[in-house]
Amino acid sequence: METWSPPRRRAQRILLALEAAAAGREQRDTVVGEEDVRAAVSAWPPQLPLARRLRTPTSTAAVREVSYWERFYREKRDSFFKHRYNLRAEFPELMPEAVRADPYAHIPPHVPRRRVASADWQARLPQSTFVLAEAAAAALRVAECGCGVGNALVPLLRAQPSAYFFAFDFAPAAVRLLLQHPEMDEARVYAYVSDIAAAEQEEEEQEGTIHSTGAYRPPPLPCHYVTCVWTLSAVPATHLSLVVQRLARMLLPGGSVLLRDYAVGDLAQLRHPACARVPGTAHEYLRGDGTRVHYFTTDELQALFEGAGLHTEYVRLQHRVVVNRKERLSMHRRWVAAKFTRPEQEGRRGRQGADRCEEL
Ligand SMILES: C[S@@+](CC[C@H](N)C(=O)[O-])C[C@H]1O[C@@H](n2cnc3c(N)ncnc32)[C@H](O)[C@@H]1O
Repeated sequence: METWSPPRRRAQRILLALEAAAAGREQRDTVVGEEDVRAAVSAWPPQLPLARRLRTPTSTAAVREVSYWERFYREKRDSFFKHRYNLRAEFPELMPEAVRADPYAHIPPHVPRRRVASADWQARLPQSTFVLAEAAAAALRVAECGCGVGNALVPLLRAQPSAYFFAFDFAPAAVRLLLQHPEMDEARVYAYVSDIAAAEQEEEEQEGTIHSTGAYRPPPLPCHYVTCVWTLSAVPATHLSLVVQRLARMLLPGGSVLLRDYAVGDLAQLRHPACARVPGTAHEYLRGDGTRVHYFTTDELQALFEGAGLHTEYVRLQHRVVVNRKERLSMHRRWVAAKFTRPEQEGRRGRQGADRCEEL
């Protein structure tokens, strides 16, 4: 991740104070004057005028959040996260028998049946319909929420030939990189841009090009599984309940959300400077590059998903001590691992609109 530079940190504090003021809250330790505002604006990327970041939470989510991730992927491209091969052991329900028996065995790269045509990825971002035949015929449909450049998706794609994946992310740069991946296969994956936290009726933004992704677009067919791998932590706490309801609605009856994310007390949380904490939240921070991270408790996750009508299969803390012998450091990493399932039978007062996946 980008390191903090003093002007950026100062700008961030001012920004947080302005946001707090706009929301009618107080932030005691930052006095904001005209000059501070000018400094904050000039230290921030030009495509993100401060005024836009101070708009209602809906606009903030659609514009600010995506801009930082967009810049992240433009800078880091596909080199930041490693492929998450351990998911084959972590998500045995997604794997065929042979992989379940030996999840760490080498699996060769996937050879696409139908490559994404080189010109196609440019055309398809605003595209609104596509052929559903392959997805509908698949034995297993998986929605990968916040797929980034495919670090969770690609290991699963290689290991489970019967699955069809809907992969979406709100950062167009990430989706483009994913579509250019040599293993990307039109017959197995549909990758597209969608903001899971966008307001239902969000208008597509016209000004600027890449920073406006438009609205939330659910997978066009209900899925057996939804994977959410280090994505929920990037969603503002104010939007979590809406997002979790949407995840629940993507599922077929009996289908499950498989989740991995940061837990409260993780080393990364302890390393945030106090001023990076989002006002009014206990465990949410803005990183130096502007991306957001929320650290979960198991109770919080359970309440969120049960509130959306799902049943908790498991929700547990994973704690690992990573030792750096050279630096003589012990690093305490904490994650949450959880699985939530949509009941086969829902009461008459069950969720309205489940299964009703809108068209892309
Ligand atoms: C830490 S990365 C994880 C990426 C991927 N799941 C993986 O395992 O490598 C978080 C991802 O969530 C995406 N994201 C954050 N908020 C989102 C939203 N509201 N809608 C869709 N994607 C979002 C970001 O663009 C980023 O790609």
